[in-house]
Amino acid sequence: MIASIKQMTQSIRFEGGDLDKSLPYALQTDAIATLAGGIAHQFNNALVAIVGSIDLLQLDLSGNPEVDKYAKNMLSAVKRMTRITDQLLAYARRGNYQPVLVSLNDIVEMIHPEIAREMSVDIHLEKDLAKDLPQILADPAQLQMVVSALVENAKEAMEGPGYIRIATREDFLGAMPHIPGQSVGRCACIQVSDTGKGMSEEVKGRIFEPFFTTKLIGRGLSMAAVYGIVKNHDGSIIVDSTPGMGTTVRIYLPAAKAEIQQ
Ligand SMILES: Nc1ncnc2c1ncn2[C@@H]1O[C@H](COP(=O)(O)OP(=O)(O)O)[C@@H](O)[C@H]1O
Ligand SMILES: [Mg+2]
Repeated sequence: MIASIKQMTQSIRFEGGDLDKSLPYALQTDAIATLAGGIAHQFNNALVAIVGSIDLLQLDLSGNPEVDKYAKNMLSAVKRMTRITDQLLAYARRGNYQPVLVSLNDIVEMIHPEIAREMSVDIHLEKDLAKDLPQILADPAQLQMVVSALVENAKEAMEGPGYIRIATREDFLGAMPHIPGQSVGRCACIQVSDTGKGMSEEVKGRIFEPFFTTKLIGRGLSMAAVYGIVKNHDGSIIVDSTPGMGTTVRIYLPAAKAEIQQ
């Protein structure tokens, strides 16, 4: 029941059929990421120009309720587009990456109030943060994006009352042959578990594909972004899921060098 980054690279597929089998998978996924990142970058530049122009319109025509109404609609569309481009850039590993020494516990604490505020009353949110967690070298904003995405999916997987648990712990990973490029040695681990509907093997094998979704209003970009961010931090992801029972996603991030020498 383990889906790893390797499975992701093995299962990437275009709508029209399998990828070109004459090319190695890594090369193909790299090409997709480069394309996605390139487009997202151009879109971002255009979105900045659009927001600037909307601001100017509102300034020049201030007090006109019609202008305000249309500007509000445009700004909310821009907000949605910005989220998509941020996720695409994260998947392509071209996001704004500013690593600092940080603890995964701090990341959880930073966004926990917002997560708790948006949780419905019949979902019990648990937080179990380990003491003495090794620090990691990471971009806090990107890791917040990871935790929010996992919690969002956990929430959306609920089909009634249930539990979502966010936990951190220290771990020592040995090399696992089925997870290439995995973080080996001392790691900080964060896991998000839910008692939601779980996933079939087929779904689990595809969750990191950009635009793969099983939801009516889903966009299928958050797990792709999680994948890009974790890879950018030399980390590993393990997904454990049982249909009808729930899902646990574990992310392992290597302890910062200063921590290892201690
Ligand atoms: N915790 C979870 N429980 C069940 N299914 C999940 C979970 N996390 C991800 N998935 C599956 O992975 C798919 C892709 O997730 P994601 O990239 O976040 O896109 P979206 O949430 O927009 O569909 C989801 O549509 C869902 O089928
Ligand atoms: Mg999602």
